[in-house]
Amino acid sequence: MLITIPDVLTPEQVTQCRQALDKAQWVDGKVTAGYQSAMAKNNMQVAEGDPIARQIGELIVGALSRNALFTSAALPLHVFPPLFNRYAGGQSFGTHVDNAIRQVPGTPHRIRTDLSATLYLSNPDEYDGGELCVEDTYGVKSVKLNAGQMVLYPATSLHHVRPVTRGARVSSFFWLQSMVRDDGQRSLLFDLDLAIQRLSRDHPEHPSAVQLTGVYHNLLRQWAEL
Ligand code: NI
Repeated sequence: MLITIPDVLTPEQVTQCRQALDKAQWVDGKVTAGYQSAMAKNNMQVAEGDPIARQIGELIVGALSRNALFTSAALPLHVFPPLFNRYAGGQSFGTHVDNAIRQVPGTPHRIRTDLSATLYLSNPDEYDGGELCVEDTYGVKSVKLNAGQMVLYPATSLHHVRPVTRGARVSSFFWLQSMVRDDGQRSLLFDLDLAIQRLSRDHPEHPSAVQLTGVYHNLLRQWAEL
């Protein structure tokens, strides 16, 4: 399942992030790439552990924790501290798959990357190209969102970023470990949650709302790993 989360950051928060990133230390993006992806990756990235990255990363994680659509779709257990990248001057990232396990920098913790996230910090009119292309079972999906919006997709997917031929594409990217590891199970829970919310809104007295809420929680109890 590939899902767009529309209002992760306000325009003011996007401006705040962009201004902070202008002052950050940018390095070659290969620093966090695995062996195969290092050969395909050509972009710039804020150094891991940069205090600016940590500060705006916390702003992003805070915004996500208050976002009901994100919580319902991702069922997050651990969120990797957000990283930041920039593509310009024809830079791109060829087809690759993200590493399955990532060490959280400066901690003994590792997370399993169930979902990959890209949060856009540039608007589409600021650059040409730069589409994130994700291969799923129905073909290749091409994604280019407004600043402040985020795409979530299974980290199991092959994906690439097309060359940026004008301007610059700035975004935050990170991974998360979900309480529900399997994308199919997580998608079922998300659909069920949306249907329950609609039923509860349109027919608040309907007894099936309570019954279906019970089914939702009992499935979550069976599938969740904490
Ligand atoms: Ni990737």
